[in-house]
Amino acid sequence: MKIEPITGSEAEAFHRMGSRAFERYNEFVDLLVGAGIADGQTVVDLCCGSGELEIILTSRFPSLNLVGVDLSEDMVRIARDYAAEQGKELEFRHGDAQSPAGMEDLLGKADLVVSRHAFHRLTRLPAGFDTMLRLVKPGGAILNVSFLHLSDFDEPGFRTWVRFLKERPWDAEMQVAWALAHYYAPRLQDYRDALAQAADETPVSEQRIWVDDQGYGVATVKCFARRAAA
Ligand SMILES: C[S@@+](CC[C@H](N)C(=O)[O-])C[C@H]1O[C@@H](n2cnc3c(N)ncnc32)[C@H](O)[C@@H]1O
Repeated sequence: MKIEPITGSEAEAFHRMGSRAFERYNEFVDLLVGAGIADGQTVVDLCCGSGELEIILTSRFPSLNLVGVDLSEDMVRIARDYAAEQGKELEFRHGDAQSPAGMEDLLGKADLVVSRHAFHRLTRLPAGFDTMLRLVKPGGAILNVSFLHLSDFDEPGFRTWVRFLKERPWDAEMQVAWALAHYYAPRLQDYRDALAQAADETPVSEQRIWVDDQGYGVATVKCFARRAAA
């Protein structure tokens, strides 16, 4: 089963949810601040979805050179329209996070390459990390936060997840999408192996993979690495 791009009514539902719940991005923004994001930097957001993170980041760091990339034409269109509505000039590209095709101008140029809540959808996880490490400049950092497979949840974590799904006042479509996303998500060891494989091609000087919740009870995997200096 393929759950990669989010298209059609699911893309619209995702945008409705995301644009009404900016606080859900706070934890990720805090991680980016910890990773050293600063005004004037070049930042690439792989699997950017409908552009909520871009609106939040450019409000806080107005001179970021920020490029959002998504495999879904629908998401790219929604992100462009949303940015225009918000009076922002932002760049969104159609592209696959599993290949730098269409991002050649950014190879080795980004200070930070990020991805939020999407890498669990990739069919080729090592290729996703490979793209991140190729885009980032020597000494720059990558940060991915995505979902963990259900079998890696402990018992209380699983119960919290079920309660979260039931209680969340979402569109039914989003509830099913979330359940499927966790069902098809990689295991923690898959994340470790994928990052290690990518780091064989583009060496890293520092890396850390850890799991914690997002303050609303759902475990996510965090993957940070710094590309070795030239
Ligand atoms: C749950 S959304 C997250 C969007 C955004 N990062 C956020 O946090 O709001 C996952 C996004 O990943 C995109 N996606 C899935 N596979 C992709 C791939 N191989 N390359 C680029 N985007 C992809 C989907 O189209 C969707 O927009």
